[in-house]
Amino acid sequence: MNSNDQNETNIQLDYIDKLTTVVKEKSEELGRPLTYNVTTFGCQMNARDSEKLRGILDKVGYIGTDSEDADFVIYNTCTVRENANNKVYGRLGVLYSYKKKNPDMIIALCGCMMQENVVIDKIKESYSFVDLIFGTHNIFKFPELLYNSLMSDDMIIDIWEKTDRIVEKLPSSRKYSFKSGINIMFGCNNFCSYCIVPYVRGRERSRSSEEIIEEIEYLVRDGVKEIMLLGQNVNSYGKGLDEDINLSKLLSKVTKIEGLERIRFMTSHPKDLSDELIDVMASSPKICKHLHLPLQSGSTDILAKMNRHYTKEDYLGLVDRIRSKIPDIALTTDIIVGFPGETEDDFLETMDVVRKVEFDSAFTFIYSKRTGTPAAAMDNQVAEDVIKDRFDRLLAEVQEIGRKKYEENVGRTEKVLVENVNEKDSSLVSGRMSNNAIVHFPGDSSLIGSLVNVRLTECKGFYYIGEIDEEMA
Ligand code: SAH
Ligand code: SF4
Ligand code: F3S
Repeated sequence: MNSNDQNETNIQLDYIDKLTTVVKEKSEELGRPLTYNVTTFGCQMNARDSEKLRGILDKVGYIGTDSEDADFVIYNTCTVRENANNKVYGRLGVLYSYKKKNPDMIIALCGCMMQENVVIDKIKESYSFVDLIFGTHNIFKFPELLYNSLMSDDMIIDIWEKTDRIVEKLPSSRKYSFKSGINIMFGCNNFCSYCIVPYVRGRERSRSSEEIIEEIEYLVRDGVKEIMLLGQNVNSYGKGLDEDINLSKLLSKVTKIEGLERIRFMTSHPKDLSDELIDVMASSPKICKHLHLPLQSGSTDILAKMNRHYTKEDYLGLVDRIRSKIPDIALTTDIIVGFPGETEDDFLETMDVVRKVEFDSAFTFIYSKRTGTPAAAMDNQVAEDVIKDRFDRLLAEVQEIGRKKYEENVGRTEKVLVENVNEKDSSLVSGRMSNNAIVHFPGDSSLIGSLVNVRLTECKGFYYIGEIDEEMA
């Protein structure tokens, strides 16, 4: 089941037609267009899913708005850490006040949090004003579910435990016209012991390379210059497919697409990052010089308890191999502090890796206990004040190193994909370099979506100020 389920796509396209009629009728009745607001929590996968939700809402005649005081509001939720959940509950209260003024308002919830039974029970009990709930496996059914919700006064809940289906080829509205994420695989089979993602996103499913290439070619015709290949563990892309494919081979194919200028991918798991992939990255100027390589911990003991399948030495060796072939690559990472049983010595191992690798930047997280994961049942949870102290020390180190790394690039000229006019100073535009760092430089909106050579004149901590390099233009 790796090719698109066209039958299901067609069913949903029929619902899109039906919805278009209903939305038109409703807005004629009200004498104004119906509005929608989509809020995304969590990772790039959710951001991409939200583009699909927006695509459908735009297509059937809703008008997007920044305000949550809208006719249709949906939260695409994340449950990777406890605070992601708390944010959703907190904001639902505000939505209820809008709904009291606008009884026709539809409040919907979808995404990873909805795959947890305890969450559904809590919403049914304490947030009964929610109209529609669906999960990650059946997001493609959104047109059908929205239609049913508009036709009914009851709370509609549709959650699937799992799926082996891939349903794509439905509308999507991109945030940026010139860049896009594209799913190459769904789900995760790694079961890192702290992580809830495999439980809420299901088993790994890869899309066929033919469909991925087709979608990218379509995006390029539509103005896209940069794509990001998305998956929870893109290094295991292709497993289970009939074709002879893996991430390196897929990347080689993608680099041949004419008109596509930049390729990114995330997230890579260190345990299966191959030398073949490093070679492909080194040889293609289109593949961005950035690798996000989550470390999680520098302690081999903790890594084993985390079920990560690599040691401290494996990780350091991998970094050496990457840097020897791609010296100017930016390396970023994720680190968890306070995993159950983490001792001061374990923590110092993490600090050691941070100092040795010198990450360009790092996302640091306090361990969050996720019910149902093996780590949640481990009995030696670390005390809060100890975690806080380690977290502060780690953050200070990571920031100091990051600043130093950023400083090193001042004076260089880099290709920048211009994203927007600077919000604070409209004489500047902002864009991203190949290594994902942000630079602001004098320019106007006509530059948005183009690649320009920019000389980095000043480093301001974690971004740069620059100027167009006329010599290189
Ligand atoms: N698939 C990616 C990222 C998944 S979630 C990967 O394997 O790297 C993003 C990050 O959230 C993870 O890298 C991890 O650092 C963090 N994370 C996941 N579960 C967590 C938990 N229970 N507590 C704290 N951080 C967590
Ligand atoms: Fe979670 Fe590990 Fe899968 Fe990443 S690889 S999503 S951290 S289980
Ligand atoms: Fe969160 Fe789901 Fe992504 S739990 S991090 S939104 S896969």
